[in-house]
Amino acid sequence: MKAVAIQAFGGPEGLAVIDLPDPSPAGGQVLIAVEAIGVGGVDAVIRRGALAAYGFEEGHVPGGEVAGTVTAVGGGVDTSWVGRRVWAFTGVGGGYVEQAVAQIGEVLPLPANLSAVDAVTLGSSGVVAHFGLSHAHFAPGESVLVRGAAGSIGIMTVQLAARGGAGAVAVTTSSAERGERLRGLGATHVLDRSGEGGRDAPAGYDVIIDIVAGAHMPSFFARLNPNGRLVAVGAVGGMPPADFGTEMMAAFQRSLSFATFSAATVAGPELRAVRTAQFAAAGGGELHTVVHELLPLGQAALAHRKMDAGEVFGRIVLTT
Ligand SMILES: NC(=O)c1ccc[n+]([C@@H]2O[C@H](COP(=O)([O-])OP(=O)(O)OC[C@H]3O[C@@H](n4cnc5c(N)ncnc54)[C@H](OP(=O)(O)O)[C@@H]3O)[C@@H](O)[C@H]2O)c1
Repeated sequence: MKAVAIQAFGGPEGLAVIDLPDPSPAGGQVLIAVEAIGVGGVDAVIRRGALAAYGFEEGHVPGGEVAGTVTAVGGGVDTSWVGRRVWAFTGVGGGYVEQAVAQIGEVLPLPANLSAVDAVTLGSSGVVAHFGLSHAHFAPGESVLVRGAAGSIGIMTVQLAARGGAGAVAVTTSSAERGERLRGLGATHVLDRSGEGGRDAPAGYDVIIDIVAGAHMPSFFARLNPNGRLVAVGAVGGMPPADFGTEMMAAFQRSLSFATFSAATVAGPELRAVRTAQFAAAGGGELHTVVHELLPLGQAALAHRKMDAGEVFGRIVLTT
């Protein structure tokens, strides 16, 4: 089968189309004829070699989110799965392939009205948005700022905050055009990356969902209301300064909270339940997926070039 692997760490040119033996599912696994593959930011981080210390080597096949049809099952898996359309998490890797294997616990049936492309746009990011907001103890009526809203996690967070009855949903983004698109998804105020602008934007926020982190993260503590909570769910802007806790302590009398959130800490059944509900909501048109572009699997390097250039609003999806 055709696959795409990281032949050399570095730029997108290090991605190459290769031939791999057709896989067969081991016990507890299914084999999926892949239709759609989500391209995630972590794929680019691994491609650059930034996670080499964590065991990612050249030759790694990136991608973790696929959708398609089950064609075979391994031992211990009900044969009724064969022929079903599914979404699956393949792990941190193994997704840029024509045929993927996944553990049955990481496989979810797709509703008939949800496409494979939409599923891989929503499957991972939707749960981060949902549980990130609950980790921030978001309650209806509260004001929310989504920092770095133009990616798939931010787009889902904006929609869930709006649907959850937020009093205001502000976003940071780099262009007015992106701001308008985010308004169409539920944003009420559009700010620039530094958090400025946005006519009549709230002076402070009860919740900030931060997908960016980086050098400017501490400046957003000043935008929290008393008892406000900033939850870092991503770090597309890199790590914050090492002494950022000092800024929190300087604001001691405003009782602020900082937390990180990773979906890795959510129990499997809870993830399944929320993902199933979100797939149904997306199939029914209540949640919107934003696909930046469809590209064939063989053009994974182009997809990475577009990601590196910051061109992507939503998600690029590879198709087989
Ligand atoms: N918590 C979890 O469980 C979990 C799970 C999966 C992934 N993640 C993390 O989530 C992040 C990826 O999320 P995503 O795919 O939604 O994001 P993304 O699409 O990579 O980026 C979101 C937006 O952030 C803005 N941005 C990029 N670089 C920036 C910078 N240096 N400063 C300010 N803004 C910047 C860009 O929008 P504008 O140009 O419009 O500003 C970009 O569209 C990664 O850090 C990944 O590790 C977390």
